[in-house]
Amino acid sequence: MISTSLASVAYLGAAILFIFSLGGLSHPETSRRGNLYGIIGMALAVLATILGPRVTPAGLPWIIGAMAVGGSIGLYAARKIQMTQMPELVALMHSLVGLAAVLVGFANYIDPAAAANLSSAEKAIHEIEIYLGILIGAVTFSGSLIAFGKLSGNISGNPLLLPGRHWLNLIGLLIVIFVGWEFLHCESLPAGMIFLGIMTVLSLLFGIHMVMAIGGADMPVVVSMLNSYSGWAASATGFMLNNDLLIVTGALVGSSGAILSYIMCRAMNRQFLSVIAGGFGTASGATSSGGTKAEPEGEVTPISAAETAELLRSSKRVIIVPGYGMAVAQAQHTVYEITKFLREQGVSVSFAIHPVAGRMPGHMNVLLAEAKVPYDIVMEMDEINDDFPVADVAMVIGANDIVNPGAQEDPSSPIAGMPVLEVWKAKHSIVMKRSMASGYAGVDNPLFYKENNSMLFGDAKKMLDEVLLALKS
Ligand code: TAP
Repeated sequence: MISTSLASVAYLGAAILFIFSLGGLSHPETSRRGNLYGIIGMALAVLATILGPRVTPAGLPWIIGAMAVGGSIGLYAARKIQMTQMPELVALMHSLVGLAAVLVGFANYIDPAAAANLSSAEKAIHEIEIYLGILIGAVTFSGSLIAFGKLSGNISGNPLLLPGRHWLNLIGLLIVIFVGWEFLHCESLPAGMIFLGIMTVLSLLFGIHMVMAIGGADMPVVVSMLNSYSGWAASATGFMLNNDLLIVTGALVGSSGAILSYIMCRAMNRQFLSVIAGGFGTASGATSSGGTKAEPEGEVTPISAAETAELLRSSKRVIIVPGYGMAVAQAQHTVYEITKFLREQGVSVSFAIHPVAGRMPGHMNVLLAEAKVPYDIVMEMDEINDDFPVADVAMVIGANDIVNPGAQEDPSSPIAGMPVLEVWKAKHSIVMKRSMASGYAGVDNPLFYKENNSMLFGDAKKMLDEVLLALKS
């Protein structure tokens, strides 16, 4: 067992490591180091907590048992879950943070020792912490479960718009404030539990209502927003438990999630408040597994793998745009083989990464790093969008919404105003996908019908294998 001051020093060290971790994770080249800092910080935090003064020897077997169960589930999930299912997993994890905050809040209220020896002002602050912790936790819990359902395709991506929904939210908020006031002024534990129960039910309903009203196209922002909420829920738990590290860590997660939500809103040209207000999204109910069929309009030009290889071989500048389909097909390794071959032939190859390509922030960067694509040829959208007019070929691999010119050309499009990669400005664009189906946002893509565009139909991995074979023959 270690003393309180040693535990505090360990917590401080862990907090510093978490800050270094976030710094490292902000760039692909330093991300492994960032991850390592995070792992060491978390191990230090868990050890300091278990060995710290708050854990009695009688409690140890419970903690070790809970860690074994949680650790086994985590290990199983990490091995079983596909990369493309990551956002669903993250949403589910956020729901657990929310649930933990709710349970800790109730436990803290019931525990007579938690409020013993507190002055009346301190007791009021303690109860406000409990009330807010349960409120944020319950919203995070139910909202994350709905986000999980939407991302996994078990719940429709269409926004659910109840009549007078903003009024419903406002009335709910007023009731929560009133119940909170009564909670702070009630004398007995059973009465307090009733007020807490009413607020918890309302918060759960609010979380469901809030995320149900948000359409499929806005889900990336919702995931990062719930990430932020889960941080604040953890921070609130830290206040309830008087645990400084939990407060700091929760604040780090909460603020970085909020910054990420802001960056994503900018990438999609959306106002944060209008995302939260809901109503924007899919008209046709896209699914995470690929989307609905779009009605064909105009002529599309198919191209074969051999012709694609010929076009690539005769190019000086090629820009590759990866999207969700590359992740599904696990085609990143073949993409790198093709890149390596073309570069050896003197062709300049770069990758264009859209901020919301795939299904989670940094999805494409992770896949390309896994395939060992050099970081210096992987460009962010703002860095490369002006280069498309000088590219001979823009090769789109399983991407759809992020290269949809309708976002710029059609003000009535559900994704109008979202910045996109302007692949149609290249001399020739090739889109690799299995069919004419729409992408996540469920909207038709006029790119497919452009004169300088060809469609290479088929599974991305299979088609790229054929392109590589044709290039090498
Ligand atoms: P999408 O617009 O979803 O398009 C992906 C395309 O990949 C589909 O049209 C599909 O067409 C094709 N595809 C699927 N499996 C394939 C395979 N095995 N081989 C070849 N193609 C395959 O993806 P995107 O362009 O990357 O855009 C991302 C979208 O997801 C945006 O709308 C974004 O808002 C949303 N979103 C993003 C995130 C984050 S944080 N990045 C989170 C949630 C949602 P076929 O079925 O015809 O093959």
